Amino acid sequence: MHSFQELIEQFGQRFEHRQFPEQPSRLYDAASHILEIGGKRIRPVLSLMGNELFDTLHDDAFHVGAAVELFHNFTLIHDDIMDKAPIRRGKPTVHMIYGDSAAILAGDVMLINVYEKLNKIRAHYKHKIIAGFNKAAIEVCEGQQLDMDYETMDPEQVRYDDYVRMIGLKTSVLLAASLQLGAVIGGAGEGNQEHIYNFGKNIGIAFQIQDDYLDAFGDPEKFGKQQGGDILVNKKTFLLLKALELCNPAQHNELKTLLASSPDDKVDRVLEIFKSCKADVWAEKEKERFQEKAFESLESIAVLSSRKKPLMELANYLLNRQQ
Ligand code: IPE
Ligand code: IPE
Ligand code: MG
Ligand code: MG
Ligand code: MG
Repeated sequence: MHSFQELIEQFGQRFEHRQFPEQPSRLYDAASHILEIGGKRIRPVLSLMGNELFDTLHDDAFHVGAAVELFHNFTLIHDDIMDKAPIRRGKPTVHMIYGDSAAILAGDVMLINVYEKLNKIRAHYKHKIIAGFNKAAIEVCEGQQLDMDYETMDPEQVRYDDYVRMIGLKTSVLLAASLQLGAVIGGAGEGNQEHIYNFGKNIGIAFQIQDDYLDAFGDPEKFGKQQGGDILVNKKTFLLLKALELCNPAQHNELKTLLASSPDDKVDRVLEIFKSCKADVWAEKEKERFQEKAFESLESIAVLSSRKKPLMELANYLLNRQQ
């Protein structure tokens, strides 16, 4: 068994070299840029942990890890175009440096590379792994579309349950699938695969709640993204939905006016209302609620509880992270 840190290092030794050819340079430099500026590499580590929960590490878990990390980075490049984000991982986003066309193509080429990685795994479970990966990949697209649809909808039209479902699709399913596909490689049975998937799904929801919290209240130096980016594009995050529910009529009117306009101080004014009605405090409770659900699924997995320690540590890190 390996710790989170050891697995990050092992994965990095295989992954952190240039993945792409030189020419056309604008295309491949754009794709290489996002991989070279870092990232926490959580998803591949989840695949390795999913494998190691049931058996010793197999090369195939590294192939699946590379596939999910490439897929994740592809979604980030396209997400930054959709979200009009100028900064990621503390650096200018791919579309800001290379332009929208190269950014779209760099994402496309990375997605094709995902299948090159998946093609390397053993025939024995290749079909199952590709089917599981494809299901998650399609759901990510569905979640991203809902996220974009909600931007232009009135907040009253978006219920809290819609938000949870949307973040479940855009974010959690990939974390859940990363774990489950690792478990398949480790030889887990169907029941254990389902438990580990559900663990990842609920941890993923809490992870996106933390992401939305940090977008508003995080330290941009640590978080590496523009502060208030979600506020600027009218994302229907839990902060906004909860604030509208908890605030007084004057604040309610102000929030609605701010949603319909873009004054220079929009972020500051919205943050002030979020804080005054304690929408930020509510995040902690919600994270705990989903973490508890996740830990129930983890308990159900039929392996020695000492083997579950790295997953518990990783979950605690993810939900308290500042970056
Ligand atoms: C960012 O994911 C996108 C979300 C789903 C919130 P991460 O926070 O894992 O991003 P990196 O890879 O570490 O930069
Ligand atoms: C991103 O959600 C989910 C995907 C990229 C699929 P966000 O839009 O909140 O992610 P960040 O904050 O830009 O990393
Ligand atoms: Mg987004
Ligand atoms: Mg985004
Ligand atoms: Mg975000």
